Amino acid sequence: MAMTADGKIATANRAVTTFGSARDARHLYELRATADAILCGARTVEETGATLGNGGEIHRRARLRRGLAEYPVRVIASESASISSSAAIWQKSFSPVVVLAGGTASKRNVSRLTKLGAHVWVAAGAEVDLALMLGRLRSEFGVRRLLCEGGGGLNDALFRAGLVDELHLTLCPRIFGGRQSPTIADGLGFPRLADAALFELKSAKRHGDELFLVYRAVRPTG
Ligand SMILES: NC(=O)c1ccc[n+]([C@@H]2O[C@H](COP(=O)([O-])OP(=O)(O)OC[C@H]3O[C@@H](n4cnc5c(N)ncnc54)[C@H](OP(=O)(O)O)[C@@H]3O)[C@@H](O)[C@H]2O)c1
Repeated sequence: MAMTADGKIATANRAVTTFGSARDARHLYELRATADAILCGARTVEETGATLGNGGEIHRRARLRRGLAEYPVRVIASESASISSSAAIWQKSFSPVVVLAGGTASKRNVSRLTKLGAHVWVAAGAEVDLALMLGRLRSEFGVRRLLCEGGGGLNDALFRAGLVDELHLTLCPRIFGGRQSPTIADGLGFPRLADAALFELKSAKRHGDELFLVYRAVRPTG
């Protein structure tokens, strides 16, 4: 995630979705080139026009050297299966698209996305069981390493489910302000300090005026 110095990942009106440097963009593609699958929330896919590709020839070759498929499996979290049919992701067919939907998603939406070529996995309950779905991605698509690229709603659910091993944060020298501006974790959050997801700093590198931070999850013991 690229984050401003005041902790925002987009402007309040959501008009600005990209604000990191070229180095930050490269970092994203380098990370993608280590992952079997990319996961994104429905709003991020729609608002950023992401097609979740491999980032071009250099990264394609890096994937092959690591024994990965040429393109990552693309996974969209869309509880109500509301992801728009006009999202750019549907224009590209280089790898499977899996949609994680909740049990209350309408049949109409599920069938609409299936016609667009997606594998729509509908949860047994109202909410998507993200841990279960990661297991299914592993067994059906061989996904061992998954990169989540946000947004804040989806990230929050992953943090709360204890499913984040590593957090890559690029701190950018801007202030967006705005109470409504998205942050890296925007859902229900944690009610108590004792429950908060805990990380340790693995590395911090400076490139120009940006800081590239990598945090590793600290798992509760005992
Ligand atoms: N700076 C950065 O690095 C960066 C990166 C990514 C995104 N962004 C920004 O973040 C904003 C989008 O964030 P957001 O929080 O509004 O949206 P989001 O997380 O991308 O998408 C929210 C939608 O994803 C689905 N979803 C979320 N949690 C889910 C769960 N646990 N299970 C199943 N589906 C789930 C729901 O879809 P349904 O509505 O279909 O139920 C929900 O409405 C955009 O402005 C984008 O530009 C910034």
